[in-house]
Amino acid sequence: MLDSKSERRFRFDNATYQGGNVMTRVLKDEDRPWLPLDGDGENFMKIVSVDEQQKQIVLIVKFGPNAVYPQHLHHAGAVAYTLEGEWEYEEGVLPVGSWALEPPGTEHTPIVSSKGAKILAVLTSADDRFVEVPLPDGSVLKQDLEYFKHLFSLTPEEAQAQHATGIKMETRQ
Ligand SMILES: [Fe+2]
Repeated sequence: MLDSKSERRFRFDNATYQGGNVMTRVLKDEDRPWLPLDGDGENFMKIVSVDEQQKQIVLIVKFGPNAVYPQHLHHAGAVAYTLEGEWEYEEGVLPVGSWALEPPGTEHTPIVSSKGAKILAVLTSADDRFVEVPLPDGSVLKQDLEYFKHLFSLTPEEAQAQHATGIKMETRQ
């Protein structure tokens, strides 16, 4: 039995979790779609959750063999866990079961092995900025809260038609 103070604390913690929805949610794999990352049929992103209040994004990326994700700068801290395959960057190789802990301010260029890779990532920011990706034309793709909210609302067909991720993948030769 909780005393009244503990009960209030419990309610507060739950009310602030998941954007103010006082509920535990369960998502099945099929509840969230795989969005094309750049429409090449090899690379996909599944946005599991966008929590506006906690400034937290949960997503899974699925990369084809030898894919290279563009260099990007983190405003959000990220935790990434390899579910399948293998990938690497300057800091090391990440086979299944490995964790990448990426603080705000760090930059990365993930390179995927010939096995491909499936990676779970949780990004948590102090504000609405999450990741910035410099593009070849000199502009910068701002992956902020609005960007992820927009992607979260799309079907794969809409994401494909809009090229909504703005990401152009490369393939390692
Ligand atoms: Fe990163």
